[in-house]
Amino acid sequence: MRRAVYPGSFDPVTFGHLDVIERSAALVDELIVGVLINHAKTPLFSAEERVNMLLDATKNISNVRVEAFSGLSVDFVKRCDAKFIVRGLRAITDFEYELQMAQTNRIMNSEIDTLFLTTNLEYAYLSSTTVKEVAYYGGDITHFVPEAVVNQVYRRIEERKLTGTK
Ligand code: PNS
Repeated sequence: MRRAVYPGSFDPVTFGHLDVIERSAALVDELIVGVLINHAKTPLFSAEERVNMLLDATKNISNVRVEAFSGLSVDFVKRCDAKFIVRGLRAITDFEYELQMAQTNRIMNSEIDTLFLTTNLEYAYLSSTTVKEVAYYGGDITHFVPEAVVNQVYRRIEERKLTGTK
């Protein structure tokens, strides 16, 4: 079985991520979307919330699984019995970081290859950080994230403002 893992923070999932998920799922038998539990960062959404958003957004793609993980991506990929990491490349600015990650991962596990998909031009500008910034200042995020995610983002940002957490 040809299995790949698409690791990321997905805080929150955007249409750019979904574009990469749809296109890479069509290339493999099974795609596992790996949601990083990152103890170093304070995400807007818990890993469970991010997993649930992704489960909902991918419910119509039959060969996609969504799981949270912590630790190294390569170790998660190995646990999944997968051979590929999928990452999206939006623009040249992504390239240096992505190349560094892919090379490091390959040194850590030479059996795992990273496959890059160039993001659809329509989403080349889009990032979860931009979505949060636009929402923070009350801008319209309906063009950036699935409908079910829109209100969750506004609500959480309002809660954060009330409690004074960023
Ligand atoms: O969506 P993001 O935040 O750009 O995804 C980055 C991610 C999760 C793929 C990367 O930070 C990662 O793989 N983290 C897990 C720790 C790890 O494996 N680090 C070594 C890669 S150099």
